[in-house]
Amino acid sequence: MKILAIETSCDETAVALLEASGGLKTPRFKILENLVASQIKIHAPFGGVVPNLAKREHLRNLPILWQRIMNNELRIKSKNKKFIIHNSKFVIPKIDLIAVTVGPGLEPCLWTGINFAKELYGELRIMNKELRILGVNHLEGHLYSHLLNSKFYILYPAISLIVSGGHTILLYQKSLTNYKKLGETRDDAAGECFDKVARMLDLPYPGGPELEKLAKRGDPTSINFPRPMLKQKNYDFSFSGLKTSVLYYLRDNKKIEKKDVAASFEAAAIEVLLRKTLRAAENFKARTIMVSGGVVANRELRKKIRVAARRKKLNLLIPDFQFCTDNAAMIAAAGYLSLLRGKKRGLSARGNLSI
Ligand code: KG4
Ligand code: ZN
Repeated sequence: MKILAIETSCDETAVALLEASGGLKTPRFKILENLVASQIKIHAPFGGVVPNLAKREHLRNLPILWQRIMNNELRIKSKNKKFIIHNSKFVIPKIDLIAVTVGPGLEPCLWTGINFAKELYGELRIMNKELRILGVNHLEGHLYSHLLNSKFYILYPAISLIVSGGHTILLYQKSLTNYKKLGETRDDAAGECFDKVARMLDLPYPGGPELEKLAKRGDPTSINFPRPMLKQKNYDFSFSGLKTSVLYYLRDNKKIEKKDVAASFEAAAIEVLLRKTLRAAENFKARTIMVSGGVVANRELRKKIRVAARRKKLNLLIPDFQFCTDNAAMIAAAGYLSLLRGKKRGLSARGNLSI
């Protein structure tokens, strides 16, 4: 099955073309195209995402990315009979499913992706009456992003941590498609906290990766920032207290080594994420832990979780770098599973959609 996926929930315009097979038992994905048009340069002068600018860029980028996908497909397989000549002008790959993110995210941005997907559906359906379209939950995209890795195996039950710019969620997974939420952040998401602390340290947008770079040169034991909610037995998180302590530290101390602040903050944030995940794994007798979302691009987090999983003899699943931050390949993976499960999600933007 060939899946075209579209992702425009925030500041990355992403379009992907995948081949999916294996069904719900052994889903496998071959990535034909995974295009991401980053808007970093546009938003950088403002220090964060400006929703209207993001929407404008999505509108501009979507047709360009789609055109590039068609051109590449044409170049690679121009003699392949799978292609359909339309109006004797356009050569269009045969697509079986269009999967588009419907939430959570910035609603004006989500709508650009949804409307583009609907338009394409209208055009492509003329040639393929079997074509289907469905809305995908962005968080399920992250949850299933490890399925895009070339090699993996999963032993259930599993504990899954989704940690991005908008969310910090712990889930218990009984099987691939049977999961329940254990806890989430009560205030800021971990990625948001990285971004805000980065801004306090005058680092350029986007803050997370910049903070990581600075932290690498610093001493993580130099400042003892709080580890919020670590002592509480629930699976919720809170990051705004940690952010505020960094703010007070910067305000109250004259001689500051920014690299030590960055390293100490990073250590505190990672320790909270890790210890809560490991505790859930122990209490639920999980055999696997999975981590996903933009913050998982952080090398220190990846390293620490690898060490911890080995020590606890837990199977660990981490998406490849390119599948941690927002992309459309993960939306195709989640779309494939939704389709097989017969789950239908309407095609309207839902900014606060949860998992
Ligand atoms: O998943 P994602 O691309 O978008 C959302 O769904 O939110 O995650 C983006 C978040 C941002 O807050 C960004 O600063 C953070 O992931 N991030 C990082 C790193 N790379 C991205 N945080 C810490 N270290 C990184 N290397
Ligand atoms: Zn995301």
